[in-house]
Order: sequence, then structure tokens, then C-alpha cells
Amino acid sequence: MIDPRKIRRVALLAARIKRLRINVDNEENLHELAEAAKLAGATIEVLVEININHNRTGVAPDEALPLARVAHELELAGAGVKFVGIAGYEGHTPVLPPADKTRETLASHAKLAAARRAIEDAGIAVGVVSGGGSSNYPDCLAAGIITELQAGGGALTDALYYHKANLANHGHRIGAFIVTQVIGVSNQGTHAMADAGFKSVGWHPFGGLPLVLDRPDLEVQGLSAEHLKLKPANPDLPIQLKRGDKVYTRTHLLLHRHMARASLTRWWCLARSAGRGSGILGCDLDAAPQHLRSAQRHRARRVAHPRRGLPRLGRHLGSSRRALRGRNQSVLFHI
Ligand SMILES: Cc1ncc(COP(=O)(O)O)c(C=O)c1O
Repeated sequence: MIDPRKIRRVALLAARIKRLRINVDNEENLHELAEAAKLAGATIEVLVEININHNRTGVAPDEALPLARVAHELELAGAGVKFVGIAGYEGHTPVLPPADKTRETLASHAKLAAARRAIEDAGIAVGVVSGGGSSNYPDCLAAGIITELQAGGGALTDALYYHKANLANHGHRIGAFIVTQVIGVSNQGTHAMADAGFKSVGWHPFGGLPLVLDRPDLEVQGLSAEHLKLKPANPDLPIQLKRGDKVYTRTHLLLHRHMARASLTRWWCLARSAGRGSGILGCDLDAAPQHLRSAQRHRARRVAHPRRGLPRLGRHLGSSRRALRGRNQSVLFHI
């Protein structure tokens, strides 16, 4: 966080909430945060971020102690920040083959452990060691070095986490899919076009194209902004689709800014896309862990505002439910 306006805003926020924590990897930035927090009458908790081989942000491991010392001294001087620990992220590991992922995660965590030792040897307590993500949390738990896991996306286990990040092997189920409607089929039966492109479905360089659910005879051939192109898995056969058919595809949850649950005849998961493409985002809520379900229930209350949520919800749920009749999954919202 470097923009002065953002720093001021975050300091004001820190004054209003119980605890606010920020990663820092720069001494000047630490002073800026401290100054703004002091002015706002707040305390910002800081974690010294360490580069643990991702090579994105973070100080080198041997620079962690000097920065932790500055944070600790500011804390002792009552300057608006409090040193609480260290953080790192192994962002180079998510789609590595499992054995490589384990090895790389352990190597990264060894750096966190060494930095922790160095800081504690200097007499500064390290309360938090933060790291990891959805893609490597089993390795993180096995290593036992971090005290806080920075996982998020795996809660719904979209196609990227399930297939490419290998959560399929750790008991996860896919919790998110898109329902798209066929709007045209080529006369030769070579392909069909459906109404959800990358603005709805998402696309991730690691994740590849979405996959069709329950239809081994179909493959996604490509995506444009608003359209998804389907082809038969066997090129010698004509595509078995007609205009109006619904196709369920696994997706990446990259574009969906709001997500909530609301109750009609059962729990529904609703989402709106920042990209505003068409298509419907669905989520098999049974696949979501309990804490996520509670969060969604909380959000559902928020979207239930008359002008913001339910009218749109009501309008779309009827067609969504018809689209899913006979299916054993929960859903949806046109996006
Ligand atoms: C700093 C940091 N920690 C953890 C993660 C892992 O997040 P997720 O569990 O959503 O994959 C990310 C992902 O981008 C990240 O940038």
C-alpha cells in the first residue's frame, strides 16, 4: 500500500476496526504507515513480507531482521505500527506437479523459519508466520511452520484449483460452474456457439479453457468475450446440440465480484460478474466448507436490499431454476 490517499484511508479504517494487518517490505513505507496511523489515532499491525522464491514482492530473507527491528522500534516509540510477524507467499508453486510443489513449499518455508529464528534471536517476538494458499495448503500443514494460512480461492474449488492445482487429490469437489445456453449450431454439425465468453467464464493462463460438465461428447474449442465455442469430442460425429440447449461448464472464479446466498425453496448461490458477460454462475454449495456458507448467509442479508438485490434475483431465479430442473446442484444468477 503506497498511495498516500490509500494509506490515509487504511489508517482511518484501522481506527474503526479491531485489527488491521498489512504486509510491508520497505522501510519508507513502514514510516508512512506509522505516520498515518498515528495521525488517525490507530495502530496498524505489520508483517514483514519476505521473498520466499516467488520473486514478486518481499525483502530478501536476511533483510527481514533489519526491517522487523525498525517496525519493533516504531512500536516501542508508540508510532502507530505494531510488529506482529512475518509473511511470504509461494506463488511459484500452485500448478507444479505434486512432488515439486511439496519440495518447493518446504524450501520456501525453510526461509520463513530461518527469518523467524533470526528475529527471535534478536529478542523480538514473532507472533505470526503467514504463508501458503489453497493450492499448497496440505504441504503447508505438513511442514508446520506457518501459523496463518493465506488461502481463499480453494473454498469454492473452481476448475483451476481442482485440476491444475491438484485439489482433486485432497478430497475437494468442484464448487462452481457456469450454465451457458446454445445460441446456434453450424449446419455441418462441426460446432455450436453458446452465450458465455471469457467475460463470464473467466480465463486463467494456468487454467486453460473451461471444461464441459457431464458431457464427454463435448469439448470447449475456444472463448471470445461473449461466446463459447463447443465442438464434438469425436470430430467424425456431428455435434449433439441444438439451439436453446443448456451446457454446464467448469469455470474459473476470476470475474465474480459479488457472491451471496439467498433462500427461496432452498439455498441458492448468487454471483455477479465484474465482466458482465452473459451466462449463469452456479455453485454446488454442498462443496463449500461451513465457514464459507456462513459468510454467504451474511452476504445474502446484504444483497437483500430492495434496490440492490432481490428484484434482480427474483427475475432471474425462475429461469435459472428451470435451467437446472432435475439437476442435483444449487445455483445461480444471470451475469
Ligand atoms: C499473497 C498471497 N497469498 C496467498 C495467495 C493464495 O490465494 P488462494 O488461496 O486464493 O489461491 C495469493 C494468491 O494470489 C497471494 O497473492
